[in-house]
Amino acid sequence: MVTVHARPTVIHQAPPTGPGAITAERYVSAAWMAREADIVWPRMWLFACLERDVAEPGDFAVLNVGNESILVSRSQDGELAAFYNVCQHRGMRLAVEARGCSKNFVCGYHGWTYRPDGRLIVVPDNDRFVGGVDRSARSLKSVRVDSWAGLVWICMDQDAAPLREYLGPVADLVAPYRLEDMTLIGDQTVRLDCNWKAVFDNFGELYHVEHIHPQHKSLFDCPTAQVDLFANGHTSVIIDGHTVNTRLPIHDQPNGYLDQQLRMFGGDPAAYVGRVLDIRGDVQKLRRKAGPRLGFDFDGLSDERLSDVEQYNIFPNTMITVQPDNALIARARPHPTDPNRCLWDKFTFRMQPNASVAERAGVEFTPFDSADLEPVARPDHDEFDQDDIIAGRKTMTITIDQDIHLIRDIQSGMRSRGFDTARLCEDEDRIQHYHDWLNYFMDSCHTTPVAVRH
Ligand code: FES
Ligand SMILES: [Fe+2]
Repeated sequence: MVTVHARPTVIHQAPPTGPGAITAERYVSAAWMAREADIVWPRMWLFACLERDVAEPGDFAVLNVGNESILVSRSQDGELAAFYNVCQHRGMRLAVEARGCSKNFVCGYHGWTYRPDGRLIVVPDNDRFVGGVDRSARSLKSVRVDSWAGLVWICMDQDAAPLREYLGPVADLVAPYRLEDMTLIGDQTVRLDCNWKAVFDNFGELYHVEHIHPQHKSLFDCPTAQVDLFANGHTSVIIDGHTVNTRLPIHDQPNGYLDQQLRMFGGDPAAYVGRVLDIRGDVQKLRRKAGPRLGFDFDGLSDERLSDVEQYNIFPNTMITVQPDNALIARARPHPTDPNRCLWDKFTFRMQPNASVAERAGVEFTPFDSADLEPVARPDHDEFDQDDIIAGRKTMTITIDQDIHLIRDIQSGMRSRGFDTARLCEDEDRIQHYHDWLNYFMDSCHTTPVAVRH
């Protein structure tokens, strides 16, 4: 095996409390889970839904996180709003559908009716309440809402820092990929038998890639990846793409994926026999040149971004993996009662070719695949069990399926009396950083209720 060193991890802001042990307790204990419900979920900015799902007046979408439920809506005057998804009469869940469009929210129990901006407008038989119901005092309870990169975020803490400040440098790093212009082509949720942090950790390290994702050795150079660690527990990794794992023997021929990518951008795969490591740099040039005729605007992206893949893990539970023409956003959500179970949402996006890009550049529009031009309807949400993946009835891409095959065994192992703390390698710096910030938030709550500021 060739010795290849990772690029040094860049620590932009270390957690104030320093490194700590990552114990099994945080994954398996009901008491720890209850503290997260008091401290983590109500204080952080959480990715709630897609902006396009609440684009029109009356549109709404629901985020369920543990026992809490948040309703995001677009009011008649076009403003984004978010509320606890609970009727102010006797506490019925107001919206039970994941998303939809409705002129008003009508409670399914006794018919109290709210406007999309949260105002209570109808109380059936108001005269049967002594003194009548003061409607202005019984509006829906609002939570903070903001949007970024085509995504709607909510925060239940009125004193937390604004979203952009919470995201820090991550906001500007992701912006040039124009996630907001990408088309949603997949909307899936898998129910997993593991703690929500166990699956999030899995996407915070590349140490396991050679062991369980053998296909990646001909796509990416994971051992040389660049890790960045940010304030508030956010992290990123940048992996050289359109290349091979340089820690392993380097093959002679461009494999199927590299072959296809070279052809797409006007390159000749035969010219790279014995020169596979030259492909990455040449793909950057070829893709830059081919972009306009293929209908892609890559002007905002550096050369490296035309060949590589970047992943941003945003504390506490959202992961964005992005390339110039596609993206994947995943989100871990806790189970309402069981620390050994969670939900893992996956949103898949694709940048569709756009004829106007070619027109602006004065070149003939020649999309690589005309099927890419077809309008894509918003996919329905598909929710299933990990057993559906293990049995091959469902897939979330081969790589994620491989992870899901293992994840319940990680959880059951951590429940053993024979396991107490993790021992991490440098490839797992992102996990350590994330958990140290988690410790900071969990601990600091006892002395200061507002700890999300930089
Ligand atoms: S609980 Fe909603 S109207 Fe009664
Ligand atoms: Fe994996």
